[in-house]
Amino acid sequence: MKFPKDGMDSEALFADMRERKKQDADWEGGRTWSLLYPAGKEVDDVLRKANELYVFENALNPFRFPSLRQMEVDVVAMAADLLHGGEEAGGCMTSGGTESILMGVKSARERARVERGVTRPELLAPVSAHPAFAKAAHYLGLEHKQIPLGPDLRADVDAAASLINDQTALVVGSAPNYPHGVVDPIPELAGLAAERGISFHTDSCLGGFLLPFYERLGEPVPPFDFRVPGVTTMSADVHKYGYATKGASVILHRDAEHLKKYQLFMYDRWPGGLYGSFAMAGARPAAPIAAAWAILHYLGESGYVRLAGVIRDTVKKLRAGIERETALRVFGEPVMSVMSFGSDTLDIGAVGDVMDDRGWHLDRQDNPKALHMMVSPQHAKVADAFLADLHAAVAQHGDSRGVEARYS
Ligand SMILES: Cc1ncc(COP(=O)(O)O)c(C=O)c1O
Repeated sequence: MKFPKDGMDSEALFADMRERKKQDADWEGGRTWSLLYPAGKEVDDVLRKANELYVFENALNPFRFPSLRQMEVDVVAMAADLLHGGEEAGGCMTSGGTESILMGVKSARERARVERGVTRPELLAPVSAHPAFAKAAHYLGLEHKQIPLGPDLRADVDAAASLINDQTALVVGSAPNYPHGVVDPIPELAGLAAERGISFHTDSCLGGFLLPFYERLGEPVPPFDFRVPGVTTMSADVHKYGYATKGASVILHRDAEHLKKYQLFMYDRWPGGLYGSFAMAGARPAAPIAAAWAILHYLGESGYVRLAGVIRDTVKKLRAGIERETALRVFGEPVMSVMSFGSDTLDIGAVGDVMDDRGWHLDRQDNPKALHMMVSPQHAKVADAFLADLHAAVAQHGDSRGVEARYS
């Protein structure tokens, strides 16, 4: 596309944009199972208004926009409270899970260098950990080592123990992980790290704003947060199960006075004055911070518990429906709202194709081959329709054997 010569009438412009948007996934109809976490129209309205109020500000310099600075401080404090951070906990907001993870890895690398003299830092993360850890290792010059999974698809603790060495800067566990929705053995992994003075990061990007509310509902939640000794940093995404619009996550340190300095970048060797930053980004949009603050206040604990209840009931219905299909099985023991399912007899990719044709957007996975789901409150209203289509898709492929031909 060439740079436009003249400007465009705004009515025509928005008509054009609306037209373009028609090709996008129908997330409002509950048809997507990843990327978005819709929680209903009322929540959407609050998010829209909060975004609009802070469209133009810049969160780079907190002293210019004190209201914004206070909102960031508040969001971090609320997340720390939820995750049992205690008085010493602190952190920052970032643009998302990946940036929180990058900052967690950077902090661990610096800590290992300063406190243990580590010069060839290694990062130890389960095979199922989000690619953000591999990305962080790549960007920040750490060697990435993978902890294999046990038969329950959780990180194998003995294997982790044998991989740790004097250059390990960070050990990681997920609560839960993206591929299977299972929670790694956080106390055991964090214990291995703590014994050796190594940092440990719980990636609760997915679970940080949902597991605490599952716990309040009386559901079994494995230990994952700062109540576990040895957990030094955590990531929790407000833009996932906090239901905020995109661009909002939190990186937390157990002991901010000790650990947060390792996250900081400071520079004064230029004419522009002292430049300090706790994140990868320079200029930062204000709207995601404002929207995160707004939605946490709008829903409050009771609102989050209510939505967690809707998710839990929907997951139970979906899981029961999937398991009623004798050819299908759910992998591992998913703890909350994320799960994957596959088959020993059916071509699960072909089942996914039929679901695509029927308008459902299910992500594909490998090792084991699976379809992946992240359940949001919005899915309560489509669970029955989804299961009916899944049943039809399985029936259509009931005679297919040996998945290798098409999906290997
Ligand atoms: C467990 C987990 N960690 C980290 C991330 C990365 O988050 P983001 O996409 O916000 O960068 C994701 C994204 O889905 C995730 O599921």
